[in-house]
Amino acid sequence: MSIRLASRLDRVKPSITLAVTQKAAEMRAKGVDIISFGAGEPDFATPEHIRAQAIETLQAGGASKYPAVSGIPPLLDAIKKVTAEVHGMELGAGQILVSAGAKHSLFNLFLALLDPGDEVIIPSPFWVSYPEMVRLAGAEAVLLPPRPDTGFDLDPDALRAAITPNTRAIILNSPSNPTGAVYDQKLLQEIADICVENDILIIADDIYRQLVYGDTKYVSIASLGEEVASRTILIDGVSKSYAMTGWRIGWTVGPPEIIKGMTKIQGQSTSGANHLAQIAAVEALLGPQECVAEMRKSFDARRLRMVELLRAIEGVDCEMPNGAFYAFPKIAAFLGKKTPDGTTIENDVELASYLVENGVALVPGSGFGCPGFARLSYACSMEDIEKGIARLSESLGALH
Ligand SMILES: Cc1ncc(COP(=O)(O)O)c(C=O)c1O
Repeated sequence: MSIRLASRLDRVKPSITLAVTQKAAEMRAKGVDIISFGAGEPDFATPEHIRAQAIETLQAGGASKYPAVSGIPPLLDAIKKVTAEVHGMELGAGQILVSAGAKHSLFNLFLALLDPGDEVIIPSPFWVSYPEMVRLAGAEAVLLPPRPDTGFDLDPDALRAAITPNTRAIILNSPSNPTGAVYDQKLLQEIADICVENDILIIADDIYRQLVYGDTKYVSIASLGEEVASRTILIDGVSKSYAMTGWRIGWTVGPPEIIKGMTKIQGQSTSGANHLAQIAAVEALLGPQECVAEMRKSFDARRLRMVELLRAIEGVDCEMPNGAFYAFPKIAAFLGKKTPDGTTIENDVELASYLVENGVALVPGSGFGCPGFARLSYACSMEDIEKGIARLSESLGALH
């Protein structure tokens, strides 16, 4: 029997980050020693007090029933509190939707917001899923070119030039996956002014907002005034800051009409996010916050070490990332070179493939709309960083 699949699949590419992580895992399962810089998740276990809350809930027979589609009231209250503190927004009724991770929040959002012909502006490099999800919703992803020479910031003129009558929204991701770049207040204000002028929605995926280092400050675009806040859709979650990727809790904060549309879609698809994980998320948001500071401190030390080691490799050029947990070095100098067995490395995907065969996994920049670069996650042990970058250095040094 020949099975015909939906044509919408033709618009979507599989996640390149998951593909690399999976290849590394498969090789590891075969006994090959691989150090992976591919993962987009903390290497820590979820903090103990959060786990304890979940255990206690289960032992008391809680979380057995369907939660409310939009989220359990204690979590909605906790999100309301955090939103007021972080973004200066006092939320009214119907402005929050809890979903199965921020990825699911974005998916619900695009399905609820976009029609064929609508355009969403996405600055490159971008998190791999944005363009694919926009396309799955039938709309067009309009990509802004990457700006490696100015710390991967955004060019307001390029944004202006990309706006058409079909533009519905821009996606901002600061701190950024994959570059670790963090937009400053001046740039955010410029972007906000352009969006207000042109009546465009701002989708602010601030999932890494608690992971900024050194003197860098996270600035919420929604905090820049009421007019901006009223057109901002905030995407956030517990995955990255609380080492809770496996629990799958994220949320959207936005105008009630949009949240209502998204809730309708969620009500007919997942019925809401996992009840127990929502209870754990309440503990994450309202419980002790020292765990976040501790993990941030570890990430910071690993960031500095990884960048120091990367910069020591001849031909590698690496900006200091100010947030998230990724380094995004330029590796273009190695393209066009030959491996020891004489194969020419044509592009960053082939380079990543050569490197994984040599025991180190990273994600090629072209997956993020930025060929000639590579993403390395430093959410791994210091020992892996030392060993993995030494391997990287040796493998790159073997190219000629
Ligand atoms: C920029 C960005 N947004 C959203 C997500 C999704 O996070 P989650 O679905 O785990 O909440 C990720 C995860 O990699 C991310 O990097």
